[in-house]
Amino acid sequence: MTAENYLKYIVEQIHSTVAATVDEDGLPVTCVIDMMYSDENGLYFLTARGKSFYKRLKDKGFIALSGKKGEDTMNCVAVSFRGKVKEIGSGMLPVLFEKNPYMYEIYPTEDSRKALTVFQLYEGSGEWFDLSKKPIERDSFSFGGAENKASGYFVTDSCIGCCDCRSVCPQSCIDMNGGKAVIRQHNCLHCGNCAEVCPAGAVIVR
Ligand SMILES: Cc1cc2nc3c(=O)[nH]c(=O)nc-3n(C[C@H](O)[C@H](O)[C@H](O)COP(=O)(O)O)c2cc1C
Ligand code: SF4
Ligand code: SF4
Repeated sequence: MTAENYLKYIVEQIHSTVAATVDEDGLPVTCVIDMMYSDENGLYFLTARGKSFYKRLKDKGFIALSGKKGEDTMNCVAVSFRGKVKEIGSGMLPVLFEKNPYMYEIYPTEDSRKALTVFQLYEGSGEWFDLSKKPIERDSFSFGGAENKASGYFVTDSCIGCCDCRSVCPQSCIDMNGGKAVIRQHNCLHCGNCAEVCPAGAVIVR
């Protein structure tokens, strides 16, 4: 899926996310925030200017969020996304209300919406993690020019082909290719077992 599709998935399939910000003491704070809209320019949510959540967003200009779809762990897809936010004001409020009509129940009158303001998450990177698949499936994505850093475990040329790593891999996601181990990145749990047992120090973590 493209980054835009992942953002759409957050809005349409997860919607209520757990969002983390940092307070004035540098400590993390989480709260539940609905992701109400996405387009080619980012992800949009709203809050009220009186909330301490608003203050934390303005102070740091950064948010991290996670959400999941699925009833139990083995049926679950989780998506996380973190990046830069900016306040874009009330201009997009009508769009957000139109797409999320339940908001008319929470803020029923025009006057009661005066304190509301919209934020745009315009640049960031994220991760998709699907526990419903066997082996698990994961992917990473970036948006708005953020770097999509390749993270995880990788086998270097020092591999001697002993296969020790394969016997400890919980997802059986290590293949042999030309006598060397290759990790299927989209199935890897990042547990680190392979790096621990490798006699050649050939598995590195990025
Ligand atoms: C399902 C659900 C969705 C919520 N969505 C939002 C939201 O989109 N924007 C918002 O400002 N607060 C939302 N809230 C309320 C916040 O979670 C709550 O105001 C937040 O904890 C306040 O944080 P603060 O006291 O640190 O400002 C939602 C609460 C629930 C239960
Ligand atoms: S990190 Fe864990 S899941 Fe990934 S390849 Fe190594 S052993 Fe397998
Ligand atoms: S344990 Fe290390 S040396 Fe052996 S196959 Fe795996 S990566 Fe290669």
